[in-house]
Amino acid sequence: MTQKLLDVTLTRVWRQTAEIRSFELTATEGALPAFEAGAHIDIHTGVGARQYSLCNLHAGNGPYVVGVKREPDGRGGSRWMHDTCREGDRLQISTPRNNFRLAPQAAHHCLMAGGIGITPVMAMAKALWQRGARFELVCFARSRAHAAFFEEMQTAPWADRVRFHFDDSTEHRVNLDALCAAQPAHTHFYACGPAGFMAAVRQATGGHPPDHVHEESFSATAPVDKLGRSTFTVELARSGKTVRVEEGQSLLQALRGAGVNPDTSCEMGVCGSCVTRYLSGSPEHGDSFLNPKERLSELALCCAGSLSERLVLDL
Ligand code: FES
Repeated sequence: MTQKLLDVTLTRVWRQTAEIRSFELTATEGALPAFEAGAHIDIHTGVGARQYSLCNLHAGNGPYVVGVKREPDGRGGSRWMHDTCREGDRLQISTPRNNFRLAPQAAHHCLMAGGIGITPVMAMAKALWQRGARFELVCFARSRAHAAFFEEMQTAPWADRVRFHFDDSTEHRVNLDALCAAQPAHTHFYACGPAGFMAAVRQATGGHPPDHVHEESFSATAPVDKLGRSTFTVELARSGKTVRVEEGQSLLQALRGAGVNPDTSCEMGVCGSCVTRYLSGSPEHGDSFLNPKERLSELALCCAGSLSERLVLDL
């Protein structure tokens, strides 16, 4: 299966912090498709497709804006964006996908961002303001100098909804546990940030209904080579194929080896492109995309192992 790609021109690049830049992408021809707050796109970089959240709101035929943190020790996508991309460059991107939607009926929304996790949260704050919803935004960063979109948040019409926590400040401090515990029962929580931040959010929101807690992570929860049995058999119910996953192989590698090429993008368990239904067996989930309810019937092919000898997939 191949995904439709969009041709865009990099029309503006500007600095947010020493490590973070904003990139504005405009349709090279025609208009870009609409998206809802929380959506992300794949940017096809020189080292493969990488996922970046959209931080603006879609306006008519307007551009997309992403924020990218340069990760010196990452997989190379952010270095390519920072070091290689220049205004006027042509790029290819995917259509937007949204795994991090605002709950339409929530009476109150509590947005929490750790570091570069502010990018989808910016779009959510703007959308909630536009629709006149009750919300607050808490931005956690190492220091003021590390906080992307700081000026924009301070001058936005919703600036009074924003609080900052800076690790190096005694003035700007927010206790995550106290913040979550103080929220009324009908609050919906939204969190995006690095693994340590997300673990702290999970703990802090533990007393609230799981379906009121919405997450967007940057990494899978478990390395794929540490999952489940070392060998197992996968049955593909629709095609009737049987595939053996051998020691040292991932489920995705085994499927590809058998000529089955499912849609994938991040291959880290965060984007949801490879999510597939399973019909029987006990998968072990290593993704950070599916919620506990979804895991009862779905798995992410790029980040799943098996606890049972046999796994039957709806493929
Ligand atoms: S490819 Fe992104 S979750 Fe599997």
